[in-house]
Amino acid sequence: MDLISGRGLSTAGGINREQIKQLLTSSGELQQELFLQAREARGRHFGDEVKLRGVIEISNFCQKGCDYCAMRRKNSALSRFRLDAKTIIAVAKSIARAGISTIFLQSGQDPRCDQLLDEVIPAISDLGVEVLLNVGEKSLETYERFARLGARSFILKFETSDEAEYERIAHGPLQERLQCMRWIRAAGMKIGTGNIIGLPNQSIDSLVSDICLSLDFRPDFVSSAPFIPNQGTPLQDLPCGDLMLTLNTMAILRLGLPQALIPAVSALEYIHATGQLMGLMAGANVMTINFTPKYYRKHYNIYANDRFIVTFNHAMSTVRSAGLRINPKVMEKMSQAKEQAERELAEKDPAGSGAGS
Ligand code: 5AD
Repeated sequence: MDLISGRGLSTAGGINREQIKQLLTSSGELQQELFLQAREARGRHFGDEVKLRGVIEISNFCQKGCDYCAMRRKNSALSRFRLDAKTIIAVAKSIARAGISTIFLQSGQDPRCDQLLDEVIPAISDLGVEVLLNVGEKSLETYERFARLGARSFILKFETSDEAEYERIAHGPLQERLQCMRWIRAAGMKIGTGNIIGLPNQSIDSLVSDICLSLDFRPDFVSSAPFIPNQGTPLQDLPCGDLMLTLNTMAILRLGLPQALIPAVSALEYIHATGQLMGLMAGANVMTINFTPKYYRKHYNIYANDRFIVTFNHAMSTVRSAGLRINPKVMEKMSQAKEQAERELAEKDPAGSGAGS
């Protein structure tokens, strides 16, 4: 069956919204065919290798007030932390020692992180790894500086392509977010973006528009994550986003952007016991292992305070179950470094780590 007429979903010929809609809402045989073709597209570009990223959550301070996120400024119940440069660099070294070649620094939109990043980006990039940031909306100059200092890539999700809905839940114009995405690219970094599935008032047509936006922007990385109701937020009583719509979106993105890195996000595992495996079966090719020192992880409740924490063992067994593999060099280094890293850093108590307030 030729799901996308062999022309790609978002070529000069234009996007076929109807076709996207049909695939997005597919189940049964058509959905299985969609997933199969997504896996084949991944296989053509990446073989059977899943890329690992190591994330360090460096600050949960945030200027923004997004209704879906517990790190929103107004959530006074959240205990805030900011790691110091020494701790971040030490954790980054342990990730690099484990053979993981992308170090992913994530934080709320925290202006006080900028100086910290100025210090840690060059130190981490000197380890010979890719520095990937997800630290929010900044000025073009700041993106350019991060790039100059050695950051190679940056993730900024547009969350929803519906301008009115974005404005309602993120309390700012979508156009500013999109401008930042263009600045990230203009600064010379690879760009990742994506949406959340299951936001209030989100129709199937709105999700089709999200897919079209992702395809048209042609990002280097793209993701789709189910919404998770988060305690202490205005959306805490909403149901979780739909797993099948998320998987279908991921598979369509794989067909439309065969060379993109697509993560099987941890939120998938939160809503379903084998959610990340299902993500890999729908065409994803990235898993992110959490290296945030244990004491701070619980305060970085990006989508839930009992969010799913991805460990190396979990990533490895998920990748194996999908019939895929992790780079053998990583496997070897990882098992050597894993125990040491967890002993030295993950249990580190707050008094010794020098975190900010
Ligand atoms: N559900 C799903 N994704 C969320 N994010 C934040 N809060 C939630 C939530 N409740 C995602 C947003 C943000 C990324 C870092 O985390 O897409 O861009």
